[in-house]
Amino acid sequence: MEERIKKIREELDNDIKNVTNLNELTEVKVKYLGKKGSITELTSNMNELSIEEKKVVGKLTGEIRNYASSLINSKEEEMKLEELNKELESEAIDISLPSEKIRRGSRHPFNRIIEDVEDFFVSMGYDVVDGPEVETDENCFQRLNVPLGHPARDAQDTFYIDPEYLLRTQTSSVQARTMQANTEKTPIRMICPGKVYRRDDDATHSHQFGQVEGLVIDKDISLADLKGTLELFAKKMLGENTKVRFRPSFFPFTEPSVEVDVSCFKCGGNGCSLCKQTGWIEVLGAGMVHPNVLEMGGYDPNVWTGFAFGTGLDRFAMFRYAIPDIRYLYTNDIRFLEQFDRKDDENEVK
Ligand code: PHE
Repeated sequence: MEERIKKIREELDNDIKNVTNLNELTEVKVKYLGKKGSITELTSNMNELSIEEKKVVGKLTGEIRNYASSLINSKEEEMKLEELNKELESEAIDISLPSEKIRRGSRHPFNRIIEDVEDFFVSMGYDVVDGPEVETDENCFQRLNVPLGHPARDAQDTFYIDPEYLLRTQTSSVQARTMQANTEKTPIRMICPGKVYRRDDDATHSHQFGQVEGLVIDKDISLADLKGTLELFAKKMLGENTKVRFRPSFFPFTEPSVEVDVSCFKCGGNGCSLCKQTGWIEVLGAGMVHPNVLEMGGYDPNVWTGFAFGTGLDRFAMFRYAIPDIRYLYTNDIRFLEQFDRKDDENEVK
């Protein structure tokens, strides 16, 4: 018996030495202490032994069993620790490494202007509506009283996609859409800010620029309503002291039509380089909705009247932030955009 136990012990010591991972260790555990393990088997014939023999065998097997399990357990602990250390090493983070600077974005000057315009008109009960940039000739021109071949088309060099579709040259196309969409023919009060496209490209004209359109249709709307609205709008966008003047003009979709000037916010109207010494700056086109346009939109011009206006958003951004070249607004130069950090909100020229 003692011989057997000695052999088991030697074998066990050797096996443990050769173990390289936890799976192998489990195999060793089964080999000695499992149901059919060599140590367990030492006691398989206990029934046949005398009490004296039982005592001796019990003592010896108990010792070898304790020896084996403590050897296996400590090996297990050692291996687990080793594994943990390996893991920690591979996941080590060098906390002394300097972090990468997170670049904070800023609102694009163009969007700041749109948000201000929307805030103002929403506070007056207008809806903000959207329209597609790829538009039909019908909505962009024909329903705005500019039939095919009309000379007024020359004023807006158009990107045509095919004879029917084009890149809208003006947000006025949304006037046509809104009137058609309003099947109940109820009053309309809407603005539509968005991008428009024309074949232009120089320091003050871009092939793409922003406009906001406004349309009001109701009963008894007059030019005085238009003037009051635009006066308030100009004050909100350019400062309380801003004055507004209307000059007669022509747009095919409004009658009468006006061009709207605001007093120069740089010199206060005294004359400077910005206003070319006139004291005034042109910012808007507007007028009373032409009866033909009302009719094509399904509104009886004998019952309904309305006004419409359109203005370039880029110009407002250029004025407010003293941006010298319209193309800065579209080239996405990060150095340009970074100047419009959030803190500038309080410093805007209003
Ligand atoms: N759509 C005109 C333009 O782009 C502006 C305008 C809008 C004029 C609405 C009158 C009424 O020049």
